[in-house]
Amino acid sequence: MSDINSEIKRRRTFAIISHPDAGKTTLTEKFLLYGGAIQQAGMVKGKKNMRHAVSDWMEIEKQRGISVTSSVLQFEYENFCINILDTPGHQDFSEDTYRTLMAADSAVMVIDASKGVENQTRKLFKVCVMRHIPIFTFINKMDRDSRNPFDLIDQIENELGISTYPVNWPIGSGKEFKGVFDRFERHIISFESNGAAHQAGAKISDLTDPSLAETLGEENHNTLIEDIELLDGASDDFDLDAVHKGELSPVFFGSALTNFGVEPFLESFLKMTPPPMPRMSSEGEVDPFDDNFSAFVFKIQANMNKAHRDRLTFMRICSGKFDKDMEVLHVQGNKKMRLSQPQQIMAEQREIVNEAYAGDIIGVFDPGIFSIGDTVCSPKKKFEFEGIPTFAPEHFQRVRPKDTMKRKQFVKGAEQIAQEGAIQIFHEPMMGMEEVIVGVVGVLQFDVFQYRMKNEYNVDLVIEGLPYSYIRWIDKMNVSEPKDLKISSDTKIVQDFRGNYLLLFSSEWNIRWALERNEGLELSEFNRGELQ
Ligand code: G4P
Repeated sequence: MSDINSEIKRRRTFAIISHPDAGKTTLTEKFLLYGGAIQQAGMVKGKKNMRHAVSDWMEIEKQRGISVTSSVLQFEYENFCINILDTPGHQDFSEDTYRTLMAADSAVMVIDASKGVENQTRKLFKVCVMRHIPIFTFINKMDRDSRNPFDLIDQIENELGISTYPVNWPIGSGKEFKGVFDRFERHIISFESNGAAHQAGAKISDLTDPSLAETLGEENHNTLIEDIELLDGASDDFDLDAVHKGELSPVFFGSALTNFGVEPFLESFLKMTPPPMPRMSSEGEVDPFDDNFSAFVFKIQANMNKAHRDRLTFMRICSGKFDKDMEVLHVQGNKKMRLSQPQQIMAEQREIVNEAYAGDIIGVFDPGIFSIGDTVCSPKKKFEFEGIPTFAPEHFQRVRPKDTMKRKQFVKGAEQIAQEGAIQIFHEPMMGMEEVIVGVVGVLQFDVFQYRMKNEYNVDLVIEGLPYSYIRWIDKMNVSEPKDLKISSDTKIVQDFRGNYLLLFSSEWNIRWALERNEGLELSEFNRGELQ
């Protein structure tokens, strides 16, 4: 096998998703510790002494304690080269999560055992299921009183519409947490109350062995026997194929903070999660082991670090090997180029990469030429990867600069932030860019937009909330001008920056009203041009 093939085979690229505070950062930190990427706990985050997760670089995230943007961490563990993609923990950034998942081959979902699937994160999880990638569940904080594990499993199945397979099963929780029973290995990993984890080496062939009652306590022992009987009887055999299709989620119980169950989880997960997978393109499936380099843009972020004042474009390599000085083709721009200062990022620390392989993520300096979904490939073989769909915004504001002298900065800021995919911008026909209509999927995006305009572009905004909740692109109409359409007085005609016409509606009733009164009118929820 060539070096390239073996490098690609050992890549594992996954995203971690969770509700804020479920323990995503703590779990990531433990992974990094095992991989030797950091030396001490607390390097990733120590909220108490005001250090923040290395991945939380935006001020607004620090203030609100939420993770707005996604970052990438790479580290080695055993013979694996692991890329972890962090995702925003708030539902208002579900579109960002979706784009990040496009770059991942699987996802780890962290759930707080005392809270279960939380309201805010339902949308994120659904987004995850939409991608049909393998989803692994880590039920965290077992050292605290948890909900009944069967209820947790039921909730995951009902909320997410996927089956589950508990790989291990908890024995008690909180002060009574005794450890987990590993259903594959048929042994117990015991948890000591001082927080130390102990792998019980001996396999337990007979769960009814009375000596177990002594170590676990009689009640815990009986419950364990019943639980495992129920699980073994009720659940189907473990089916790795179903895991790979995103239909079955292996579930692990543990406690990231006390380091319990993290390493067994990482080991099982790495065995089950797939190496880089083929991806669809205009020329059919692209094999990751194809010699020709290819990648697509899934994230753009300007001004990540004020000291750098730059715009970074993140690409997921989908096939072949990347060399620092190689010539590539930017397909959408139809331009051959060398990627400028390719780097791998450990949050704020950046390292120039000389080579990278399918599965890896690289960030490159971007003078403003890339858009989300763009393909970069070897000039020898030109094709385009499938586009990344945009979500229809559900909240709208009319926005202009407070100081009219700041028009230039306003336009630049609004356009750049829209190019990053953080907001969508529209304008009224005949109006220029001195006033824009900003559309977002989640209202927190407005706050980020306003904050960034002030902080990065020095523009204060005048904002007016608009009462619309639905947006539709006009695919076809039987009148020559959109203004001739028969629409209700509270429906607004706008244009996107490509000049396409759209309608903003305040209710579904208004959409039906417009369709009924305008024969031949065809509306769509997505911009088809962008989807193709
Ligand atoms: P997030 O990235 O998903 O937002 O969660 P994060 O890891 O920051 O964890 C949120 C809080 O939960 C932290 O406490 C963290 O220490 C705690 N935590 C994480 N895993 C476990 C666990 O297994 N058991 C217990 N008991 N707690 C856990 P904090 O007080 O908010 O922060 P800090 O002061 O500990 O930094």
